[in-house]
Amino acid sequence: MPHPPNRVRIPDLIRKKTLGEKIAILTAYDATMARLLDRAGIDVLLVGDSLGTVILGHETTVPVTLEAMIHHTRAVAHGASRALVVSDLPFLTYQVNVEETVRNAGRLIQEGGAAAVKLEGGEPVADRVHRLSEIGIAVMGHLGLTPQSVHRLGGYRVVGKTQEEAERLYRDARILEQAGAFSVVLECVPPDVAAAITAELKIPTIGIGAGPDCDGQVLVSYDAFGLFDEFQPSFVKRYANLAEQVSEATRQYIDDVRQGRFPAAGQGVDAVSDKAR
Ligand code: KIV
Repeated sequence: MPHPPNRVRIPDLIRKKTLGEKIAILTAYDATMARLLDRAGIDVLLVGDSLGTVILGHETTVPVTLEAMIHHTRAVAHGASRALVVSDLPFLTYQVNVEETVRNAGRLIQEGGAAAVKLEGGEPVADRVHRLSEIGIAVMGHLGLTPQSVHRLGGYRVVGKTQEEAERLYRDARILEQAGAFSVVLECVPPDVAAAITAELKIPTIGIGAGPDCDGQVLVSYDAFGLFDEFQPSFVKRYANLAEQVSEATRQYIDDVRQGRFPAAGQGVDAVSDKAR
């Protein structure tokens, strides 16, 4: 099926940086949410491996499998008609070698319907980024707090506070750009370091907990909408409190059923939507 003419494409994101227009990204894991965010005009839908914590109930993103990412990416791709769909390569699908990376990234594109993949790390994965770009698979990098390395990092913490860490971030960001990445996520990076990297790179930086000067911002949609209420990172802005609304609606439904108010007398099924459920 041909893409609609207003589909967001990678050169549009680069152009936005050149024009000083900010890029808005949210995560999505299913077709219904993807459709809603797409309809509202989001630029990019990221099928993040935050899937593991937000949807699958794991403590970290480490247990997320490629099969799970393909499954959810396909759902998001079905729901998105305008936004660019980017899908995370989960833990151990790109760390081993270039060949496995190509095969696994290819599955996210071919079977999942993603337009691009994201992977974590700098210099150690530069050869993967280079090969994927060379064969036509667009790559978004991810530096700073890289959740797949949470155990080595010693927890979810800001990365780039020391001179050594900040210098490594600059170097890794430049290396990713040279390897062919089309953008790079900076997660939990001090705002001044993120601003300096943003000024240095030609490709857009996407911040999450990295201050206001990145070329775009990404949030986990379940955090932004107040659906995931187990834990809230300090940098998150809540745009809704859907957890409370869902709980309240559920209480009302239970009460209606128990009190015999739903279904109302005469509320039968003489007509159903012709759209199958
Ligand atoms: O997995 C994810 O949702 C992410 C974003 C937080 C950047 O990588």
